[in-house]
Amino acid sequence: PDSLVSPTLPAGALPGIVAVLGAGTMGQGIAQVAAQNGYRVRIYDAAASRTHEARTNIVAQLEKLVTKGKLTASARERAVECLTIATNLREACAGCNVVIEAAPEDMALKVALFREVLDVAPNALLGSNTSSLSLTELGAKVGAPERVIGLHFFNPPPVMELLEIVRGIATSDETLAHALDLAKHLGKTPIVVRDSPGFATSRLGVLLGAEAIRMLETGVASAADIDRGMELGYRHPMGPLKLTDLVGLDVRLAILEHLHKELGEQFRPPALLRTMVRAGKLGKKTGEGFYVWQ
Ligand code: CAA
Repeated sequence: PDSLVSPTLPAGALPGIVAVLGAGTMGQGIAQVAAQNGYRVRIYDAAASRTHEARTNIVAQLEKLVTKGKLTASARERAVECLTIATNLREACAGCNVVIEAAPEDMALKVALFREVLDVAPNALLGSNTSSLSLTELGAKVGAPERVIGLHFFNPPPVMELLEIVRGIATSDETLAHALDLAKHLGKTPIVVRDSPGFATSRLGVLLGAEAIRMLETGVASAADIDRGMELGYRHPMGPLKLTDLVGLDVRLAILEHLHKELGEQFRPPALLRTMVRAGKLGKKTGEGFYVWQ
């Protein structure tokens, strides 16, 4: 089918309502992308202050785009109008076409969120922004495996072109078609991946980051030189340590712990990563990781 996002909407109507659960770095970015592309977006986080902060950040990002001439003032107004803060999860999800969770990398938490959504949004696609967890397991535990699918965005979501769509064993063809249609509406290029630990992206990405941390630990080179090596020698836009700072050391640690369990020794988290997370040095979001961020 051509469009499954909102098959009953009249021509010219908004493409649908998206609830974003979790207002951290990824939730904010996903909400921005959806609002810029004509969706009504409701953003919810268990910590209410985070949703307000998220809205402020999104409005500031949109303003930057206007200043750069990449967005018209009226498009910014429309996007801002599309963005609502929800004070509870049921309010966020009622009547939604799409629910995207961008909560921390914790299976039990994601299961609890989607279970609560089931009856308030009985027809919604349940998309998870997980970087590594099993969509098959999530779908089974939620009790609606046909509606659950991985919608893996990349940081920063407004800039990165890829949407990694991960199909669980029982994800329906309709849900996959809906996800592909969503990617198109959001201006993202999709890849479709079979559910497996770390999918097609995190599995490679975290390995590079972990090896760079082990190289730093053993004094192979400075953080800046390890990064420069990959930036200038391999044309990566950003070296693996700077990228770990951007993504969040806690996020990377959670992914590595999961992949270590699932795929073995090569994913063992480096001791330095664990120590830095314990010290609260989580990267850009806390102002310090392998680099100091202003
Ligand atoms: N939000 C919105 N826009 C942003 C942004 C953000 N957080 N960060 C940068 N940008 C924009 C800038 O405003 C700039 O826009 P203009 O071209 O219009 O000026 C553009 O992106 C480029 O930024 P900069 O000029 O400041 O710097 P850059 O050229 O070094 O690009 C980058 C920054 C896009 C982040 C680039 O370095 C890059 O692509 N890095 C690699 C990112 C990456 O690999 N992400 C995937 C991480 S893994 C992941 O997310 C998945 C997971 O599961 C953990």
